[in-house]
Amino acid sequence: MPVKAVVGMQWGDEGKGKIVDVLSAEADLVVRAAGGSNAGHTIIRGGKKTVLHLVPSGILHEYSRCLLGAGMVIEPARLREELDVLEQFGTPRVRTRVGVDPQAMLILPWHKAIEHVREARPDALGTTLRGIGPAYESRASRLGIPLALLAHPELLKTALEALHLDYLPIFELGKEPVISPSDLFAELMQVADWLVPMFTDVSLETARAMSEGRIVLLEGAQGVMLDSLHGTYPFVTSSSTIFGGLLSGIGLGNGMVSDVVGVCKAYTTRVGNGPFPTELEDETGKHLAAFGGEYGATTGRLRRCGWLDAVALKKAVRLVGCSQLALTKVDVLCDLPEIKVAVAYEDADGTVLADFPCDPYRAAQLKPVYRTFAPWRTPSDDAVLPEELQEYISFLEGFTATRVSLVSWGPDRSQTLVREAGGACRSLNS
Ligand code: GDP
Ligand code: IMO
Ligand code: MG
Repeated sequence: MPVKAVVGMQWGDEGKGKIVDVLSAEADLVVRAAGGSNAGHTIIRGGKKTVLHLVPSGILHEYSRCLLGAGMVIEPARLREELDVLEQFGTPRVRTRVGVDPQAMLILPWHKAIEHVREARPDALGTTLRGIGPAYESRASRLGIPLALLAHPELLKTALEALHLDYLPIFELGKEPVISPSDLFAELMQVADWLVPMFTDVSLETARAMSEGRIVLLEGAQGVMLDSLHGTYPFVTSSSTIFGGLLSGIGLGNGMVSDVVGVCKAYTTRVGNGPFPTELEDETGKHLAAFGGEYGATTGRLRRCGWLDAVALKKAVRLVGCSQLALTKVDVLCDLPEIKVAVAYEDADGTVLADFPCDPYRAAQLKPVYRTFAPWRTPSDDAVLPEELQEYISFLEGFTATRVSLVSWGPDRSQTLVREAGGACRSLNS
């Protein structure tokens, strides 16, 4: 069975949740690799909305098992809340279908306290304030607290004391008192009761499922341009969001994944600070935000909006090595008099750039060079794409050398067209 991976190609919120839900209809296993509850993946079915932050987006298919990989950072209270909500809404056998790798790191109240102090400063990054960055810092410094320690109380106590000691100089500068290691230990012992039984070796379970020919889907979080190494540093998240990050976060070798689907909106959004060459701060930008419902699924913040940046997309295709693209939110562009796509940039000194610069500071000064496209009417379930949209898609396919295999024209799972190699479409429901 082909193993598929889904990766965000822009600055996150491309519609990965919807695409994973569509592709995982028959999946035995859906696996997340990195990030934490900074992610917000929305699924809409029959008018009912579910937003998932930690649990993979396959959970609504009642036979899929959903795994949280070693590369993730997990705040237990958020996971508990998400499991409870899923159960309250009648999702069957949630506790037995979700597995968590004990090598994933805990996000502690200390991590969030430190992030709040940093984000109150004028040089704030505009993070989701979920403690993501500090938790990954703890892992890198070898002072992090892996979930595994919940099963080893004495070692957990010592590890909490060591991390607290390391943080003391910072805590002493802050105004707010922080929870003591002993109180935190007591809280975590209660977490251990429900979380330890969910432990599984995600790498092993995923590799076994693959070798047994089961249907496996790997779910990326965030987007390529937020990658900690290749994104618009320092305005990035703290994990690897490219396809390679997906493999390392789960613990998989090369060659096991046959299809990598890059999810890309027909325009661009970004939440938080940082360079965004095609950003529109005018009425068109406001129109995209209003029509696209561009409010963060995690923080509720208004997303910055702009035209599709095909130059950045070309870079994302290179970094991910995706075999196909899923183009989402094509309906949102319908009412506009014209549609633009950035196909190059002009630098501050007038130099034309065909590629996204690897110097992230240069990215802040770029002026896009646009190509204009005719608007299209909203596609529908009749599986015929409007000619103007076909033209737009053919252009993107040529520019990125990647086939567009899925077209999403509304938030509901049913509003999806499967596009064959020759360009013919069929409705997902047919
Ligand atoms: P993710 O983080 O990539 O999973 O994306 P989010 O869930 O944060 O944001 C995508 C938003 O767009 C959600 O509100 C989805 O319900 C919505 N959405 C997804 N696909 C489409 C589409 O084709 N058209 C419209 N109008 N909305 C969509
Ligand atoms: P999904 O999976 C959009 C952004 C934040 C901020 C930067 C760093 O839903 O696409 P962090 O809290 O990670 O330290 O914040 O990254 N960010 C996202 N933006 N979608 C996401 O996830 C994001 N996860 C992080 O807004 O700019
Ligand atoms: Mg999101």
